[in-house]
Amino acid sequence: MNLKMIAKWGASWLLLAWAGLAQGADSLSEAQRQAIEARIQPVGQLYIEGDQPATAQAGGERSGEVVYQKACFACHATGMLNAPKPHTDDWQPRLAKGMDTLVQHALNGFNAMPPKGACPDCSEAELRAAIEFMSAK
Ligand code: HEC
Repeated sequence: MNLKMIAKWGASWLLLAWAGLAQGADSLSEAQRQAIEARIQPVGQLYIEGDQPATAQAGGERSGEVVYQKACFACHATGMLNAPKPHTDDWQPRLAKGMDTLVQHALNGFNAMPPKGACPDCSEAELRAAIEFMSAK
């Protein structure tokens, strides 16, 4: 091995070691970021994303948003099987049927929409509140 080859060889090892170090630093900060995210998540879900804590309302009636998050979200968030998506124009033709009809359809089911929107313990008032929450822009 001449000197030139040794220098070249050494340089590639240096480069490899440096790349490894840089990667190590990256995954460390990623892990830290995830740890931080996991720590602040419950706070974000309960008090920042929603405008009220996800607990029962006074008098036992849950807000439309709480009912939506508990039950309706499963299908309506993605518009699965043509479920109208919250806060979109999807609700325009639905609202044209009248709120009372929509509440009846939520109670009894409507095509692929299950009776009570898969929320068996929901009252009629709670279903109505959830529809009002979803259909509001
Ligand atoms: C299993 C999935 C699923 C869940 C859970 C669900 N929905 Fe739906 N919903 C649908 C689908 C699908 C449609 C569209 C039905 C159609 O138009 O054929 C729909 C339509 C509706 C409509 C419009 C009915 C109409 O006459 O146009 C209302 C109101 C509604 N859902 C309310 C709710 C409420 C309130 C909840 C939660 C308590 C809920 N849904 C939960 C699937 C679901």
